[in-house]
Amino acid sequence: MADTVKIYIDEKEYEVPAGINLVDAAKWLDIDIPVFCYHPKMAPVGMCRMCLVEMGTLVRDRETNEVVLDENGKPQVRWFPKLQTACTNKVSDGLVIRTTTSQVADARRNIVEFLLTSHPLDCPICDKGGECPLQNLTMAYGPGTSRMHLEDKKRLDKHVPLGDLIYLDEERCILCARCIRYQDEIVGDDVLAFTERQRSLQIITTSDPAFDTYFSGNTTDICPVGALTTEDFRFQARPWELTSVPSICPHCPVGCNITINTRLEREFDGRAAIKRIMPRQNEEVNEIWICDKGRFGHHFTRAEDRLVQPHVDGRPVSWPEAMKALADRLNAAGGDVAAIAGSGMSNEDLWELRQVVTRLGGKRLGAWPPTHAGAEFVAQVGVGAGTNLSALGKGDAVLIIASDLEEEAPIWRLRIKQARDRGAYVVVANARPTRMDAFCSLPVRYDYGEAVSFLTELRSARPELAQKLAEANNLIIVAGVEGLTLEGSRALMQAAANFLIDTGHVGRPNNGLMATFPGANGMGLHYLGFT
Ligand code: SF4
Ligand code: SF4
Ligand code: FES
Repeated sequence: MADTVKIYIDEKEYEVPAGINLVDAAKWLDIDIPVFCYHPKMAPVGMCRMCLVEMGTLVRDRETNEVVLDENGKPQVRWFPKLQTACTNKVSDGLVIRTTTSQVADARRNIVEFLLTSHPLDCPICDKGGECPLQNLTMAYGPGTSRMHLEDKKRLDKHVPLGDLIYLDEERCILCARCIRYQDEIVGDDVLAFTERQRSLQIITTSDPAFDTYFSGNTTDICPVGALTTEDFRFQARPWELTSVPSICPHCPVGCNITINTRLEREFDGRAAIKRIMPRQNEEVNEIWICDKGRFGHHFTRAEDRLVQPHVDGRPVSWPEAMKALADRLNAAGGDVAAIAGSGMSNEDLWELRQVVTRLGGKRLGAWPPTHAGAEFVAQVGVGAGTNLSALGKGDAVLIIASDLEEEAPIWRLRIKQARDRGAYVVVANARPTRMDAFCSLPVRYDYGEAVSFLTELRSARPELAQKLAEANNLIIVAGVEGLTLEGSRALMQAAANFLIDTGHVGRPNNGLMATFPGANGMGLHYLGFT
């Protein structure tokens, strides 16, 4: 199949990658096709009809396959009799669409007006206001006035807790099913559904406990209206009041890219307080997702018992006083100095700390918490530069060993589940069942404490499994420390590294060793000598 195809949009010819979705192709070309239900991460469903376009194909001579021209010398187009949904079509050679005709404009205007027949006039008090696709598309394509009477609008419950973290405003829901499809297709926790019919159709949670998933916050990002809001942020601030700072989530080794939204708060002594954490797109690391721990686990920054000023001997002091006391005591230690660093520290901070200790003659640099060993093996055979879990699929394999991946690295669990959906062979080996068992190709049990021997004896004890892993085009081993001592952890890393080296799965993207270190910078600790 050709790598590219020629398509025609609004009388202009374009060359686009073959087989991609038409909405994505238009976006790639900077041509606007508005959508509500379509989302590039999920299969199209054609539910909202906002993406209607005129569509046709070039007429070709059956014998010569040449494009047939009309009397004016222009290519003849065989048009569909009705408008078509762009989101349910892929580009193909000779596809012709029109996006700016009056027929298309009428369709968009009608869809927006239709959606607004049930949608409340909530924008001034809606958390989505200012960053809402419905608001934006109404401004761009809507009728400006409504033929509906206000009293005919449907009145529904506006504060439905879908779980502890997410609220549903039933009036605002435009029934696009993005949230349901996300939970089903992306996460695999199929905990949302529609109930009732027609204008009474509503979102419900089907799980007990309600909305039982570690990834619920992402539904509020992809909901194209303010129907889903977080318990954490609703009614807390308007989007335009917030300052955005790009950052990295500190809670686990995935290192999800995030945006921290802050606002100066009276209750926080006029200082900038974190109002919400949002995912920041990085297709290699976290795509557009974060877990609920990363999204909601920021309140420690405002904890009343949080240290916000230095203390010496339990007494609050100023920074200059503290620095002097520290310098005096370090100098008096006569080189008998050690430092313990946490994995939330950046490489730059670790470097500075190391400088202080080593310049004073100290040699002891420790890592906290001391749960994982064997980072040197990740340094040697860690996954190659350019690794992207989204690239794994049929013919590839992932072995997750001694790890409860959903707890330790939630977004790896989400993305490896999708790799399994694309055909990758995913093996979860542990002494006990974990949530990841539901999303793997083969769960395997060993006795507690036997993780290392399971891997070193894999070829003799489970030859078929070993062969399947060895013959994979790409192989990643994700190692945890469940049931292991520090020495056991190092031995498991070594065994994993040996298996990867023996089978030729090192030194290239999408191959190698990953470890579920606690915090974001376990490898930084290793590289800077904190062990
Ligand atoms: S709650 Fe939001 S994402 Fe879910 S169906 Fe309604 S509008 Fe769509
Ligand atoms: S997966 Fe890890 S890095 Fe990503 S948001 Fe969750 S805790 Fe943070
Ligand atoms: S975006 Fe195409 S039908 Fe909804």
